[in-house]
Amino acid sequence: MDNYLILVFLIVIATLCWMAGVVKVLLAVVLLGTAVSLAADPKSDLAADRLMWSAYLLSKEGPTADLTRRRPFNPLLDLDPVGLIQHYGYPAERHHVTTDDGYILGIHRIPGSGSSQREAVRRPAVILAHPLLSTSAEWLVAGPEKALAFLLADEGFDVWLLNVRGNTYCLNHTTLSPHDDAFWDFSFHEHAVLDLPATIQYVVRETGQQQVQYVGFSMGTTIMFVMASERPDVAKHVTMFTALGPATALVHSRSYAWRALAHASGALKRMSRMLHTHRFLPSTAALRTAGEVFCSDGSITQSLCVGLIAALAGRNDAQFNKTMLPYIISRTPSGTSFKNIDHFAQSLKQGFQQYDYGHAENLRRYGSAAPPKYNVGNVNLPTRLYYGMNDHLADWTDAQKLCSELPNVLSCDAVKDPLWTHLDFVWAKDVVPLVYNKLIADLKESSFPVRT
Ligand SMILES: *[C@@H]1O[C@H](CO)[C@@H](O)[C@H](O)[C@H]1NC(C)=O
Ligand SMILES: *[C@@H]1O[C@H](CO)[C@@H](O)[C@H](O)[C@H]1NC(C)=O
Repeated sequence: MDNYLILVFLIVIATLCWMAGVVKVLLAVVLLGTAVSLAADPKSDLAADRLMWSAYLLSKEGPTADLTRRRPFNPLLDLDPVGLIQHYGYPAERHHVTTDDGYILGIHRIPGSGSSQREAVRRPAVILAHPLLSTSAEWLVAGPEKALAFLLADEGFDVWLLNVRGNTYCLNHTTLSPHDDAFWDFSFHEHAVLDLPATIQYVVRETGQQQVQYVGFSMGTTIMFVMASERPDVAKHVTMFTALGPATALVHSRSYAWRALAHASGALKRMSRMLHTHRFLPSTAALRTAGEVFCSDGSITQSLCVGLIAALAGRNDAQFNKTMLPYIISRTPSGTSFKNIDHFAQSLKQGFQQYDYGHAENLRRYGSAAPPKYNVGNVNLPTRLYYGMNDHLADWTDAQKLCSELPNVLSCDAVKDPLWTHLDFVWAKDVVPLVYNKLIADLKESSFPVRT
């Protein structure tokens, strides 16, 4: 059973990795399929559009006026976070944060919203931290009614959207280039002890506020748990830590995809060293195209896309909005290092600890044969945690254990939907009533001092 899953997963990963190359083959299949469906139903607009597009993408020529007019692609899929924020009528800023080791992180900001901008009160800063293989766009794509970044801006917060080294907006370095092997020598440990402190210190400097709020999702929580235990000097600037789908030790993870990846991580590591490819699953135009073609409403392959996501994070059909798929895939995956994937794979097998380099190298780096454990008992931040009972990635047993080990837990709540999965924290249809309403009320209570 296990071998079979590994095989399926490797095929999927390999397909995604080489999508840039094979997308034309896939498009050719779509072309044939739509040609057949057009023959059966010559009036089908959708099939006609897809046929035109496949043909256009397959050809090396630029678009003709006619093809451009018929483009079914959603222009929102191509906007970067600043473009998206502005599209929805909010002010947007792009900032560059340089870490102590020279990475230049592109981070994004919504400094207010139309309704709260004129108020003379100072807007409390809140940092939102995205999950693995994602970007700041994660907090925006669901739009003003649903996306947490916009809801917080409406409530009077100054919203800062973190990006970590290696993702689409952080491929810049003072001396290294993404073509250097050394650029990709990082895992979530470096996100935690270098990217996050630099960003928090930047926000503190920029806003003149000594305290900021922090909301993390998945890896966005991992890095704060690590930072708060390793860098208390920076953690003192955080008022409260809100953790969605907290991910530390993942030893009970039920995710097929992650389990398979954990088994295969040794082989992946050797392959990445051999081929000097250290970047894992970057966002590409080909992937965007594939997401739109294969996962859109009306596409016969949409259920495959749903299945892929379910294998990764769990399945909750009632909450999953399939229409969102092309939006999700347009920006995620957005690239990280193989080493980071390997570090998470180690978290499944060995628990929450620093990267395991193997006996000899561990001795050299850490002075011990085993890597040092991260001590969540040191995380003194007031913390609110939300976990899903059907979260296959950050399993509820791991979440409850974490809550019992943290010294300063304000609340530790299972979302009141027994089928709540990992990705539901951002994409679920009812994420606002089930999670965000309470989250925002708690943030406001902790940020806006009661006026006397
Ligand atoms: C790289 O960093 C420099 C210096 O901050 C900045 O001017 C430039 O716009 C950045 N490039 C990208 C692609 O972000
Ligand atoms: C599903 O996603 C689409 C596209 O973003 C959106 O227009 C629609 O309102 C969403 N439906 C629900 C029930 O959230």
